[in-house]
Amino acid sequence: MQQKDLLISYFELDSPDELPSDERNLLKIATDSLKSAYVPYSHYRVGAAVLLENGVIITGSNQENMAFPSGLCAERVALFTAASQHPGITIKTIAITAQSQDFPVKEPVSPCGGCRQVMIEYETNQGKPIKMILGCETGKTILVSKVDDLLPLSFKEDSLKK
Ligand code: THU
Repeated sequence: MQQKDLLISYFELDSPDELPSDERNLLKIATDSLKSAYVPYSHYRVGAAVLLENGVIITGSNQENMAFPSGLCAERVALFTAASQHPGITIKTIAITAQSQDFPVKEPVSPCGGCRQVMIEYETNQGKPIKMILGCETGKTILVSKVDDLLPLSFKEDSLKK
C-alpha cells in the first residue's frame, strides 16, 4: 500500500477588481444572469457565464422544478447551451456566482459534483483547461486554473474502454 497525495492550487482574491478586465467582465455577466434564475424552492440563485474561444459568451442560471431532480444548475444550463449552439468550440473560462434571498452568500460558490463532472468531460475532450472564476456577494473571488483541480481522480472516457 502506498499513500498518494494530491496538491491543488488556487488563487483567492478579496475583490473582483483584482481580476483582469475580461475576467471581471465575465463575472459581472454571470452576476447579471442571476436575475433569470428560477428558484421558488431554494431561494438560492446561481449565475454562470461561459467564455468561448471565439469570444462568444453564453450565460445560464439555475432552473428549479417542483419535481426537484428535474431542475438544472446554472453551470450546466450555460455549458449545455454553449455546446449545443457552438459545438466543438473550446471553452476558455466559466464564471459562477450566487445570491440567496434568505442570507448573504459570503464565500465563493463552489460548483456541485454533477457540474464538475460535466465540465471535466468538456475539458478532457478539448485538451485545453477551462479556467474557473468563483464569486459571491462579498466580492471574495476564487480562481481555479482547470477543472481537473476540482475533480481529481475523475471518471473519464478511458473508464469505458475495453
Ligand atoms: N446550484 C447550481 O445552480 N449550481 C451549483 O453548482 C450548485 C447548486 C443550484 C441548484 C439549486 O437550484 C440551488 O442551487 C440550490 O441547490
